[in-house]
Amino acid sequence: MSQDLWTKVDEYINEITIKPDAALEAAAASAVTANLPPISVTPAHGKLLHLIARAHGSKRILEIGTLAGYSTIWLARAVLPNGQVISLESDEKHAQIARDNMLRAGISGRVQIRVGDALATLPQLAAEKQQPFDFVFIDADRTNLAEYFDWAVKLSRQGSIIIVDNVVRKGGVIDKSSDDINVKGVRRFNERLVADTRVTATMVQTVSSKGYDGFAMALVL
Ligand code: SAH
Ligand code: DHB
Ligand code: MG
Repeated sequence: MSQDLWTKVDEYINEITIKPDAALEAAAASAVTANLPPISVTPAHGKLLHLIARAHGSKRILEIGTLAGYSTIWLARAVLPNGQVISLESDEKHAQIARDNMLRAGISGRVQIRVGDALATLPQLAAEKQQPFDFVFIDADRTNLAEYFDWAVKLSRQGSIIIVDNVVRKGGVIDKSSDDINVKGVRRFNERLVADTRVTATMVQTVSSKGYDGFAMALVL
């Protein structure tokens, strides 16, 4: 059981479950062309996010970490045309690539990409007193994961769903003495999560073309 097999099975799953899709393929290709890190969600995980958000009837979605907007397209397609996705991104170059991808996907009317450190843009969102978000996808740096999650809960309502990517880190998450800043960030988040009486949560381990990792899913009570 190895990466090679996980990748082949991932390709098989994509082939049988995801129809050819010009906008998604162009977004993925744009990330490669711009030399962005290969860390967008996989097609199967993007579709999983889409299905959960859609089944949940989410109309307002918040994303933290846009990159080229690959996951953003999946999320925007889950909300009705009058729904909205706000995606937070610290890198202006990533945001511009993502905006082009939203245009190409025909969804720029319902996607707003806000540039800035999420630690600054999240309190701004709160200050605007917008309607709560129904669904939040957290996929930026792990250092401030605990803070992002806290804001996500504050910006949500009872019944909102919060999904956090990359919480297993090849199993590194169980290493109490890890020096890896990502593992440390995830462990600090997990400790807060289990103590947080505002939510109930689970974690799912995954293998994919991107290796061994996992996501957390929380329901706001
Ligand atoms: N969700 C995307 C992948 C996001 S990769 C997808 O699946 O397609 C993580 C992104 O988070 C990168 O673009 C990175 O620039 C951004 N990021 C990192 N630190 C951030 C911060 N402090 N605030 C906002 N965005 C950040
Ligand atoms: C990394 C980040 C991600 O968001 C991801 O899905 C996989 C890997 C990373 O920074 O290593
Ligand atoms: Mg990720």
